[in-house]
Formats: sequence, structure tokens, C-alpha cells
Amino acid sequence: MALLEILQYPDKRLRTVAEAVDVIDDATRQLVDDMFETMYAAPGIGLAATQVNVHRRIIVMDLSAEKNQPLCLINPEIIKAEGVEQTEEGCLSVPDIFETVERAERIVVKALDAQGKEFTLEADGLLAVCIQHEIDHLDGNVFVDYLSPLKQMRVKKKLQKARRQAAIL
Ligand code: NI
Repeated sequence: MALLEILQYPDKRLRTVAEAVDVIDDATRQLVDDMFETMYAAPGIGLAATQVNVHRRIIVMDLSAEKNQPLCLINPEIIKAEGVEQTEEGCLSVPDIFETVERAERIVVKALDAQGKEFTLEADGLLAVCIQHEIDHLDGNVFVDYLSPLKQMRVKKKLQKARRQAAIL
């Protein structure tokens, strides 16, 4: 297993639209394992392949407190969405920034697991938010995109300042 580098906003590579996975083989499963390891180490609750500069439609998540309920979705597709919910979101590619985003409250998502088996998942609450956030990454979108232009500028400035300080230390 290996820790992967997580691209940082506003890195342009985060804008790449990921391609569907056609063959789920050992290399795919290795990538999934590495993504889980990277997500747990960060630590985070969700990670899209886009964020580790692999432009394939794969996301990993674990919302459990004990970090023992890994969930992998390959080629995820939202087939039903209803309701509206506002949640404060963060992202491993946008460190230390938390902003409220509006998303569907309940979704049904269809995907393949790491063995290539298709499954359907009904989700609400944080799980629904997380799935929508990660699928956004696969489409080249970041949650910051939903903020006003002024707020987006503030986020960029805050991140630049944090990086400058990190470079001094
Ligand atoms: Ni994210």
C-alpha cells in the first residue's frame, strides 16, 4: 500500500473529468486500497480518484467513527435525488475551509463495488452529502465552486497565506 499525494485547490488537475472504469482488475483494487490508506491517514471521510490525480470514476468513503466501514463506489451514478439540505462541508483538497453547501437531501446511487458487482444504495444525511461531494470531484467540480465569487476569492487568499506560512516553517 502507498500514500498518494492529494491535489490541492486551485490545482487545475482537479478540473479533469474522470473516465468510467471498464475493467476492475488487481491494479484497480490496488488503487482503491491506496485511496483508502490515503483517506484514513489524512484523515478524511471521503476521497475521489481525481484528488490523487487518477482520472477514473472511483470514490472511497468511511463515515463510521471507528473507521471500519469502508465504502467504495466505482462508476457511481445518482439515479434519484429529492429534497434540499444545507450542510457545512470541507474537503481534503481545500484544507481548513468549511462552508455551507446546498445539495439533495436523499439520493439513490447505483455503482460497482471493488469486485465489480453492481449495487444500489439509498442515502440521506451525511452519506448523501458525501456521495454528491465526491461525484462532483469526478466531474471536475470542487465544493468551493458553489460559493459566491467573493467567498471563492477569500478561500484562495486564505489558502495562499497558509501555504506561505508553511513554507517559512
Ligand atoms: Ni472533496
